Amino acid sequence: MDYFRYVRGELFAEDVPVEALIEEYGTPLYVYSHRTLARHLDAYAHAFAEVPHIVCFAAKANSNSAILRLVARHGGGADIVSGGELYRALRVGIPPEKIVYAGVGKTDDEIRYALGKRILMFNVESGQELERINAVAGRMGVKAPVALRINPDIDPETHPYISTGLRKHKFGIPIENALEYYRLAKRLENVEIIGVHKHIGSQITRVSPFVDALQRVLVLVESLRAEGIGLRYLDIGGGLGIQYNDERPPHPKELARRLLPLLRGREITLIMEPGRSIAGNAGILLTKVLYLKRGDDREFVIVDAGMNDLMRPTLYDAYHHIAPVRKNRRRKITADIVGPVCESGDFLARNREINRVEQGEYLAVMSAGAYGFSMSSNYNSRPRPAEVLVRGGEHYVIRKRETYRDLVRGEVIPDFLQ
Ligand code: LLP
Repeated sequence: MDYFRYVRGELFAEDVPVEALIEEYGTPLYVYSHRTLARHLDAYAHAFAEVPHIVCFAAKANSNSAILRLVARHGGGADIVSGGELYRALRVGIPPEKIVYAGVGKTDDEIRYALGKRILMFNVESGQELERINAVAGRMGVKAPVALRINPDIDPETHPYISTGLRKHKFGIPIENALEYYRLAKRLENVEIIGVHKHIGSQITRVSPFVDALQRVLVLVESLRAEGIGLRYLDIGGGLGIQYNDERPPHPKELARRLLPLLRGREITLIMEPGRSIAGNAGILLTKVLYLKRGDDREFVIVDAGMNDLMRPTLYDAYHHIAPVRKNRRRKITADIVGPVCESGDFLARNREINRVEQGEYLAVMSAGAYGFSMSSNYNSRPRPAEVLVRGGEHYVIRKRETYRDLVRGEVIPDFLQ
C-alpha cells in the first residue's frame, strides 16, 4: 500500500492533507512520499540481501537532488545516462563506486568526466564506443572499467516505446556478437573488463522475461569464463513495472525468488537499476480544475497541469488514475481531462469516467513520481511545477516553482537587435 490515501474523504500524503499543500504551494504541484520511496528502496535491498548487490537507482526516473540524496542515504547508487545525471548524483553524495553509466551516445567530454570521477563502470553499447572509451582513457593515463551491454533479444511484453532488449532496438550489443566484442575489449589496453549489463525494457509486469534474459546472459558469463575473462559485476538493469491501473506487477521479493537460484554461489556482485518501481507510486501530480466545457460528443475538464508537466499520457497513451482530492458522491461523467497547452494531444486522461467536478476543485494524477517531472518541459512558456517531499507530518519544497524569470534565463538578445 502506498502512503497516499483518503481520511474521511480527503486525500492525504502520509500525514498531511494534500489540500494544505495546495494552499501553501499552489498547483500544478508534484508531491512525493518519503516513506514510500524509502520502503521501495528497502524492498530491493532486503529481497536481494543474500547476494552481494548494489541498487543503482535509475536517475532518469526522477533526478531531483533530494530524491537522489535519499537514495544515497539508503545505501543506493545511481544508473546514469549523461554527464548531467553524473553531476547530479555526485553533488548529492552518491559514491562514484556505486555509479554505472549506460546510454548509446556518450560523448568524449562525458567519458572524460566519468573517468576522472572514477565511477564503477561504463555500460558500453557498441564497438565504436568501446574504442572511444579506450582512447579517452589512454589519453588520461587511466584504465576504464567496462561492462558490455548485451541485448538478449527478449520480448518484455510491454509498450513498444519502452521495450529495449529486442534485436531491432538501438541498445546494447546483440548477444550472438557478445563474445567477439569481449575479445576486442580484452585486446584494448586502456579498458578493464569487469562486468556485463542488460536491460530489456520498462514497466514489465511479469517475472519470466527477467528470468529468460538472465539465463541467456549467464550462458555468456560461462563462455567468457572458459576464455579466461572473469566478470565481477552482473548488472540486470531495471524495468520492474508498477500498478497504474489494474496491473499486478511482481514485488521485488518475487523477482528475487526466481533470480536468486540462478545467482547463488557465483562470485559476482549483482547490480540492479530500478527507476519506476522506486519512484512511480511515490509521487502524485496535483492540479486545479479551471473550466468545464461541453464538446460535441464529450465533456472536457480543463485543468492547470498539461502535457509539458506530465508527458506520459500523450507520449505513450499511458494510463494514470485521476482521483479527486476531496471525494464526492456526484454523478459519474465521462470526460477528457485536458491541460492548457495548445495541442490536441494535451491530455492527462481521455474518455475517463470520474465523479463530476466543479470549477476550482482539485484532482490528483496518481503514479506520477517516475518519468513525470523528469520529462517535463517549458513548452508554451509554462514555468515548471514545484516539487514537495512529505515525510510524516512534515513537508519540504525540494524544487521551487519556476518563475517567468527562470524561463528566459540564459537567453541573450544579440547586439544588432538592441
Ligand atoms: N536501466 C536502463 C539502462 C534504462 O534504460 C532504464 C530505463 C532503467 C534502467 C530504468 O527502468 P525502470 O526501472 O524505470 O523501468 N519514459 C518512459 C520510460 C523509459 C525508460 C527508459 N529506460 C516512461 O515514462 O514510461
